[in-house]
Amino acid sequence: MALLDFDGDYGRTYNARIRRLIPAYDAIFELAAATAAALQPQAQRVLVVGAGTGTELPALLEALPQATFTLVEPSEQMRGFCSDLLAGIGATARVAWGPDHLDAAAHRAFEVVISHNVMHVLAPAAQEQLLRQMAAHVAPGGCLLLSSYSESGPPGLDLGLAIGRTRFAALGMDSATIEAVMASRNSKVFSMDAERLEQQLTKAGLEPPIQLLQALFNHLWLSRRLVRECEGGADA
Ligand SMILES: C[S@@+](CC[C@H](N)C(=O)[O-])C[C@H]1O[C@@H](n2cnc3c(N)ncnc32)[C@H](O)[C@@H]1O
Repeated sequence: MALLDFDGDYGRTYNARIRRLIPAYDAIFELAAATAAALQPQAQRVLVVGAGTGTELPALLEALPQATFTLVEPSEQMRGFCSDLLAGIGATARVAWGPDHLDAAAHRAFEVVISHNVMHVLAPAAQEQLLRQMAAHVAPGGCLLLSSYSESGPPGLDLGLAIGRTRFAALGMDSATIEAVMASRNSKVFSMDAERLEQQLTKAGLEPPIQLLQALFNHLWLSRRLVRECEGGADA
């Protein structure tokens, strides 16, 4: 199976496999939803980028009961799974599909922008472009919640890879798949460098990201846009 082929077998079997691949997958969603509710309990507009099969959505819909959600997801197969999930929980009316890809215009219309597990499927230049695009959509006083694989900081590469490999085996992943996943580093899965993340977000007028959670290489960050930016500060 081709890794990260979201319109092929990888996407078809995504829900069954992803918790082996991403440590603390559900904990990241739970914490992001709680953070969004703590900061923006009355949010009206939420943007979810790379919604995939929609697993993060039920907790978010519950956490932000007044919000309508705009979803961005380029894979038709993933959009189909997500639509099925939304229909199953009776949430279709609260959700609209946005464009397949975000544009860079500074809409600043969303109190909450969320993207889980998308940055690391993009090469560094595309990561930076998507970061700029997402930041441009965060309203004054709003927040960006972002989770991604990142090799920045402890535990360090060798120790982290050794633990990751052992974890995969302990969870029953076969050795061919373990080797394929390991080989995907820097070819299909890319670290989100924490320094570049901070540079891009602060350049776009957001506060430096706060790390809310780390599970091995997986991180959840929060970054907020000040209610009022200094004149001559971040561009639109
Ligand atoms: C690893 S999945 C994450 C799905 C879901 N957010 C989750 O955490 O389970 C990455 C998703 O990002 C989507 N994606 C890839 N490139 C994207 C882009 N430039 N903008 C938005 N979504 C993108 C893929 O189609 C895929 O559904």
